[in-house]
Amino acid sequence: MSEALHNVAPPGSIEAKDLEHLLHPVTNLQMHHEKGPVVHQRAEGAYLWDNKGNKYIEGMAGLWCTAIGYGEEELIEVAAKQMRELSYSQLFGGKTNEPSVLLAEKLKSMMPFDAGRVFFGLSGSDANDTQIKLMWYYFNAIGKPEKKKIISRTRGYHGVTVASGSLTGLPPFHKHFDLPIPGILHTDCPHYYRGAVDGESEAEFVARIVGNLERLILDEGPETIAAFIAEPVMGAGGVVVPPDGYFDAVQKLLAEHDIFFIDDEVICGFGRTGNDFGATTFGITPTTMSMAKAISSAYLPLSAVVIPEFMYEPFIEQSGEVGTFGHGFTYSGHPVCAAVALRNLELMEERQIFAHAASVGESFQARLHGFADHPLVGETRGVGLLGAIELVANKASGQAFDPKQAVGAYCMGRCEANGLLVRSLGDSLAFCPPLIINETQVDEIFDKFGTALNETETWLNASG
Ligand SMILES: Cc1ncc(COP(=O)(O)O)c(C=O)c1O
Repeated sequence: MSEALHNVAPPGSIEAKDLEHLLHPVTNLQMHHEKGPVVHQRAEGAYLWDNKGNKYIEGMAGLWCTAIGYGEEELIEVAAKQMRELSYSQLFGGKTNEPSVLLAEKLKSMMPFDAGRVFFGLSGSDANDTQIKLMWYYFNAIGKPEKKKIISRTRGYHGVTVASGSLTGLPPFHKHFDLPIPGILHTDCPHYYRGAVDGESEAEFVARIVGNLERLILDEGPETIAAFIAEPVMGAGGVVVPPDGYFDAVQKLLAEHDIFFIDDEVICGFGRTGNDFGATTFGITPTTMSMAKAISSAYLPLSAVVIPEFMYEPFIEQSGEVGTFGHGFTYSGHPVCAAVALRNLELMEERQIFAHAASVGESFQARLHGFADHPLVGETRGVGLLGAIELVANKASGQAFDPKQAVGAYCMGRCEANGLLVRSLGDSLAFCPPLIINETQVDEIFDKFGTALNETETWLNASG
């Protein structure tokens, strides 16, 4: 066994077996082999327990996904019933199943734009891959084969497959993977705190970065660009809430050049930003939309892409010529996933979870911004039940810590030691609790965070 594979866990333990058998996604593998895993064992509502009996409050809804909370009996029942009745069926070759059809109907009724057709997948990554393929397929169908490029943004996160990983604008997802692929372009991240030049107002910042986008479009040729893709609030890129007027200016520009808007609502969708969709919160009228995560509250994997009818219509003839519409997954429209997602959306409606999230979101934002004065905090930012606190070396100048110090990771470790699950994105600590969280639990999250932040400060002072 090489030194790097030295097993730090007791022989025979689940931790030791993890270190022996798994390739962990999105993990520092070197650190993992030094520290070993944390084994999650059970969860209920907004709380989770590890196999050592430690209890955590969920500050991150898993990976931004367990919207309705853990252990919802109604969803467990629906899954079991559907498995007994029809555990699998396909949508290939014109076969169908009731849960998928009803879920598509439900989703269309919820869309904040003119929705035509719903395509099902299993992950945010495959949804965004599908988006790219549908753009290419559509522009071929209408005789504009040169209109194919997609503009994404630096620090955007859209997944990890070859195409969606190319849309992602974060270096670790490209480096050594030979990404991005040709035809995917990146424009500025709308983060005023990090991106503004000296003395620039927010409005000037917006004008400058939208000007950069315009230059990119003109340099590439608008006739070569199919679509622009954006998360209403960037999640994994650090919870970047766009400045006022940003999406208005972007949409105006895209409309002038006949470029579609792909709205990636994988995190923002279904109540997260204080409205049904991030599009509503930020006044976006998308051409198409990607959804996943909260669509099923992560009880089972499911993603959806919604496109307008005008995009679907030319697909009919084109697929007829080829002999099939050659895109789809074995599990597109899996009846159990669809039945669970449908009931999840119904429960959200019956329990008025979007309104609840909007209301609790006010206390959440107040507590989050309450950290703005802390000496380690450069910026607090957020909307609805989504937020981040960015730690900096110099509060006055905003100078970041040396990434090698891993201050964000240290603070996340202190949060966990205090029984709070959050996620460090560089030196920003992200918060995205289940939407069912109550005011007392919001206080619990930020009280624990306050302790962890002070411990981080003590550690930094001690290490000079
Ligand atoms: C906005 C956004 N799009 C796409 C994805 C990719 O989703 P998945 O991990 O299900 O492939 C994510 C994942 O976090 C995301 O946040």
